[in-house]
Amino acid sequence: MFPTDRPRRLRRTPALRRLVAETTLEPRHLVLPMFVADGLAEPREISSMPGVHQHTLDSLAKAAVDAVSAGVGGLMLFGVPRPEDKDAVGSGATDPDGILNRGLRRLQTELGDDTVLMADTCLDEFTDHGHCGVLAEDGAVDNDATLARYVDMALAQADSGAHLLGTSGMMDGQVGAIRTALDAAQHTDTAILAYAAKYASAFYGPFREAVGSSLVGDRRSYQQDSANRRESLREVGLDIAEGADIVMVKPAMSYLDILREVADVSTVPVAAYQISGEYSMITAAAQNGWIDRTAAVLESLLSIRRAGADIILTYWAAEAALWLRDSQR
Ligand code: PBG
Repeated sequence: MFPTDRPRRLRRTPALRRLVAETTLEPRHLVLPMFVADGLAEPREISSMPGVHQHTLDSLAKAAVDAVSAGVGGLMLFGVPRPEDKDAVGSGATDPDGILNRGLRRLQTELGDDTVLMADTCLDEFTDHGHCGVLAEDGAVDNDATLARYVDMALAQADSGAHLLGTSGMMDGQVGAIRTALDAAQHTDTAILAYAAKYASAFYGPFREAVGSSLVGDRRSYQQDSANRRESLREVGLDIAEGADIVMVKPAMSYLDILREVADVSTVPVAAYQISGEYSMITAAAQNGWIDRTAAVLESLLSIRRAGADIILTYWAAEAALWLRDSQR
């Protein structure tokens, strides 16, 4: 008799498949990135990210409450200042009345400690040149001058009620500088989500529209080269040594190999960011009727979990949380 090995036996019924599933996906694993924009009268849909909006403070609060009741594990907030409020050093990022800090205070008031509130700790939304830091004379991003700005931004965000700071700028030493400053200011409980392995990616495209970025050029002198693997382990090791509470790999789907390697060695929880371009690709294909939207989204999220992510930042977090909750019934 041939074959003697029949792996299909355990795939025959939904009950058998459920019994032997190795990977789980739950609402608490998902974090919803959100955009709050200054000077908007009503929420505005981001055209390259159908279904995702730039929020007003009021619509932000409502969408956040909905996401939390769907069961998401957290919210990651990005600020979109008015173009006229941008400048070379990103002053709006450190201003307590800048849009991101106002958004954080609003969510903190609305939700308190009922959800994990995260803030993007990076200058690119607030600089008129669109880079993640301040520029030196020669136009390059000045690492150490940028760290001083990140420290002030981190303190303003901690004061505004953020539980976790998402250091996404890829400057050397940013985690250590921020940790030291938080501790000195009695913010010892404010945690750091380090974008440890963040690659210069073409898939960030729609995010530029989402935050009204004015970037000319690229971020290749500070974000990682997609050719590299080993470098990610170095970045993760440095961030953990500097005090990162969670490390992240970003983007997710084109970097699942990196995610697996990081998950295998990390001593802290590992997150992955399913970024704007990943959202837009699946959304566009589904809108054309080329793929089944729900199935494709859930498969992509399960794959990111399987590759080793404890936590996934995804623009589908609230919707997927509802699907997952309903499928439990
Ligand atoms: C930097 C930042 C970016 C994203 C998150 N934080 C843009 C970039 O690095 O160019 C991208 C997220 C996405 O594409 O969904 N503040």
